[in-house]
Amino acid sequence: MKKDEQSVAVVTGAARGIGRGFARSLARRGYAVVIVDIDAVALGSLQSELESLGVQVFTVVQDVADPGAFNRLRDHILSRFGKLDLVVNNAGILTSGRSWEIEPEAWQRVANINLWSAVNSSRAFVPCMAKSGGRIVNVASMGGLAAGPWLAPYCVTKYGVVAFSECLSAELEAEGIPIRISVVCPSAVRTGIADSLDASSGESPCESMDTALTKMISEGTDPDAFADRVMDEVQQGKFWILIHDDVHEAVKSRTADILANA
Ligand SMILES: NC(=O)c1ccc[n+]([C@@H]2O[C@H](COP(=O)([O-])OP(=O)(O)OC[C@H]3O[C@@H](n4cnc5c(N)ncnc54)[C@H](O)[C@@H]3O)[C@@H](O)[C@H]2O)c1
Repeated sequence: MKKDEQSVAVVTGAARGIGRGFARSLARRGYAVVIVDIDAVALGSLQSELESLGVQVFTVVQDVADPGAFNRLRDHILSRFGKLDLVVNNAGILTSGRSWEIEPEAWQRVANINLWSAVNSSRAFVPCMAKSGGRIVNVASMGGLAAGPWLAPYCVTKYGVVAFSECLSAELEAEGIPIRISVVCPSAVRTGIADSLDASSGESPCESMDTALTKMISEGTDPDAFADRVMDEVQQGKFWILIHDDVHEAVKSRTADILANA
């Protein structure tokens, strides 16, 4: 196969959870897949699994919070494949706490991983896909459309991902640049994202929320099935990807609240 015959996708946070599901779905669809994560061991097992499907896999151990990381990643991808067709900005973390007590360093870490990584990714990848075209998928959250208590850094950064995606999409369309944007807003998907929460005690309202959220995620949608449905909708060219019914309900309820008070 010549360098430019196979479509190439990059997935951040690919080692586990939804990102692993995206990488599997894209490999089954015939993409060469660039898998990016900080977890080298889990990336290694994913690489072996995907290679057994007969696709090219390029593993990059990288912290998406590093602002220079995406320029280096772009250079590696272009020298290896000569092109890039699809970017999935998926890596993200969850924290909880009282808004007024969370330390600035914790706010900054969540912002770097959840929000600035998507911005830095587009700064690196939009110029190199602008002529040939492509797709960028930003993984936000239900928390990016309707904010909940004790999740301020998460919700603030996910609202940011949604707003950034809306701005980027409108700018690309207005300037005739053939890159389509999708923003994914999941409710609960059964992954390890809530492992960082303290679901042990439930003594404070925040701890009760941690317990309830951990339970909700443990009962959520299978990540592989979720990722595959998202990729179907990405291929249909959808901007908003809201798979779960409770996300639709949350958007309606928030919009009704805003308009009722206006
Ligand atoms: N699981 C859910 O219920 C849910 C709901 C809404 C949104 N999301 C979003 O989906 C995305 C994926 O989450 P998940 O549930 O699969 O979580 P997960 O914890 O299972 O997987 C996240 C992956 O990202 C990687 N990662 C974390 N920090 C990183 C960094 N700095 N650099 C590179 N990789 C890093 C982790 O190692 C892990 O492999 C996140 O953006 C999350 O906010 C998840």
